[in-house]
Amino acid sequence: MKHVTVNASKTYDVLIGRGLLDEAGERIRSVCGADTAVIVAGDRVWPLYGERLSRSLAAAGFHVEHIIIPHGEEHKTLETYSHILNELCRLHVTRSDVLAALGGGVTGDLTGFAAATYQRGCAFVQIPTTLLAMVDSSVGGKTAVDLPGGKNQAGAFYQPSLVLCDTDTLETLPEEEYRSGCAEVIKYAMLGDADFFASIQRTPVHKQIEDVIERCVSMKREIVREDEFDTGLRRLLNLGHSFGHAIEHCSAYQILHGEAVAIGMAMITRAAVKKGSCEEETLKQLLKLLRAYGLPTDCAFGVQELYESMRSDKKMTGSTMHLVVPEKIGCCRVLPVSAADLPDWLCAGGAV
Ligand SMILES: NC(=O)c1ccc[n+]([C@@H]2O[C@H](COP(=O)([O-])OP(=O)(O)OC[C@H]3O[C@@H](n4cnc5c(N)ncnc54)[C@H](O)[C@@H]3O)[C@@H](O)[C@H]2O)c1
Ligand SMILES: [Zn+2]
Repeated sequence: MKHVTVNASKTYDVLIGRGLLDEAGERIRSVCGADTAVIVAGDRVWPLYGERLSRSLAAAGFHVEHIIIPHGEEHKTLETYSHILNELCRLHVTRSDVLAALGGGVTGDLTGFAAATYQRGCAFVQIPTTLLAMVDSSVGGKTAVDLPGGKNQAGAFYQPSLVLCDTDTLETLPEEEYRSGCAEVIKYAMLGDADFFASIQRTPVHKQIEDVIERCVSMKREIVREDEFDTGLRRLLNLGHSFGHAIEHCSAYQILHGEAVAIGMAMITRAAVKKGSCEEETLKQLLKLLRAYGLPTDCAFGVQELYESMRSDKKMTGSTMHLVVPEKIGCCRVLPVSAADLPDWLCAGGAV
């Protein structure tokens, strides 16, 4: 088992290993004294892992309740969020109880936001079951729901008390979801670790899964320690996301988050090459790696529609967007770009 400690406004552990679901009760007991543990899980994940988690929590002395939510990004909404809050009320959950988010990033973001706001804040733990959630969304305390006007438009910074990544759960993950997680892994490598990039070129992610998750979480830990509230360094984690979020939005969320991030990384690197701040070889290597993991690299949307989506992105500060631009593998920089210049960047990135 691997172990990373995150030092943000709260200090907590991220545990990575096989079979952690069965230890969840004891592990959660060691960080909180709650009477009731409420599992929040999607309708696909609950039948797979709900019973095992419930058993483990009950064996550690928790009174166990559960709330099942519909799966999919289209349900990361105020409606599902208010359903969770109403259920917590109905179950007489108090702020000294604990919520356990069992599932991917959608469940984690929704449960985290519910935990941040229910009775002004109750404890929550993340039990991510997708690769994307293990390497990214379960760590760092960003919680949110989407609004009709855009992704993650309402949310809070709220850290979990513990993160348990049971890598066995990845065995049931659909292939395309696994690929999507690999895009975030490639993002970390591209951002800050050329050795890591070489390592996932050499050895497939699934053959070194615990090491990969530990490396990504450690990188995120460093960034979150410096900039928990996303005013500077943390922007680096948005590599591929400024364009990626717009692509997700334009596709009405039919393109998976990780796939959109893969296209976004390819686009920003293409644009960087065109603008002379990145070598052609870096682009070649990135495209080769993304394709090796079965990820898309081309954008089917137009400059204008992407631009309009980007204007409503909350990462837009005033009329400036901070783009994360690769210089070489393992090194990116944050570049403030005015809204007026975004169409040019999108065009250079290969938007149609
Ligand atoms: N908070 C953050 O810092 C942060 C960071 C990155 C992404 N996100 C958010 O995360 C979300 C994407 O998360 P995701 O990619 O995990 O998607 P997801 O939560 O939608 O899960 C993907 C699908 O896989 C299913 N699933 C999950 N685990 C499974 C398993 N072990 N076996 C079988 N099926 C399983 C789910 O039911 C769902 O249908 C987006 O909403 C994104 O905005 C948040
Ligand atoms: Zn992401």
